[in-house]
Amino acid sequence: MADEPLIRAVRLRREDVPDFGRYPFSSPAIRGLSKLDLSAPVTLLAGENGSGKSTLIEALAVAAGFNAEGGSKNMTVVTRPSHSELHEYIRVERGSRRERTGYFLRAESFFNVATHIEELDAAPGGPPIIDSYGGVSLHEQSHGESFLSLVLNRFGADGLYVLDEPEAALSLRGCLALIRRMHELVADGSQFVVATHSPIILGYPDARIYVLSEDGIAETPYEETEQYELTRSFLDDRNRFLHYLLADE
Ligand SMILES: Nc1ncnc2c1ncn2[C@@H]1O[C@H](COP(=O)(O)OP(=O)(O)OP(=O)(O)O)[C@@H](O)[C@H]1O
Ligand SMILES: [Mg+2]
Repeated sequence: MADEPLIRAVRLRREDVPDFGRYPFSSPAIRGLSKLDLSAPVTLLAGENGSGKSTLIEALAVAAGFNAEGGSKNMTVVTRPSHSELHEYIRVERGSRRERTGYFLRAESFFNVATHIEELDAAPGGPPIIDSYGGVSLHEQSHGESFLSLVLNRFGADGLYVLDEPEAALSLRGCLALIRRMHELVADGSQFVVATHSPIILGYPDARIYVLSEDGIAETPYEETEQYELTRSFLDDRNRFLHYLLADE
């Protein structure tokens, strides 16, 4: 039997929203939102560029206690604020247990986190944090290497992990390694909310998939996602696919 979820749901306090006509409330995914069930161990957010995945996932992360710039909860990386005010209008419904650890991956700010870890380790006191990242400076590893060392070394049991497009750093094998590690962590009581375009990550077993679009947020079976359908028809008959794609008007 799976553990209780760390986070059961996120609610938009619609009555307090000042104006559904402007960003971030105007995004179709947010405009119709009242409650989104997040009780599955792995929830995946899919949808076209600009459909609101990052807006939603950042607000969720901040409302759940993460730094808006990304990182673990005890990091205080502060740069230019680039997240929306949406987090002030949502409420995170928690389960009965608390996470012991966690991480918010904000794709654009992973570099800031790497810098912050180096700064912390340069100061006296405490064991070097870099040890838990595989012992090699994250700046001296490739984007994907550093992300995988983070996932393999820093992510632990009973953790809450909010990841925005983790595949941006990863090869196909890297995505498979991520899925494998997610599976171990889920068995150890962790929970994931992941925004992704990857047809591989979307295929995580028994994940709940929400597709964000002009029509709002819809739970969608894997085989009915555009990522699955398009990838499948491309691979089934690439020449035919490209023939139509590249045909003159
Ligand atoms: N600071 C902002 N001010 C106004 N509009 C914004 C702002 N940030 C994002 N938007 C708009 O909100 C919409 C949702 O953006 P968001 O970044 O959440 O999309 P996304 O689903 O994460 O896209 P992608 O797949 O490209 O990462 C987009 O139309 C975008 O142009
Ligand atoms: Mg995004």
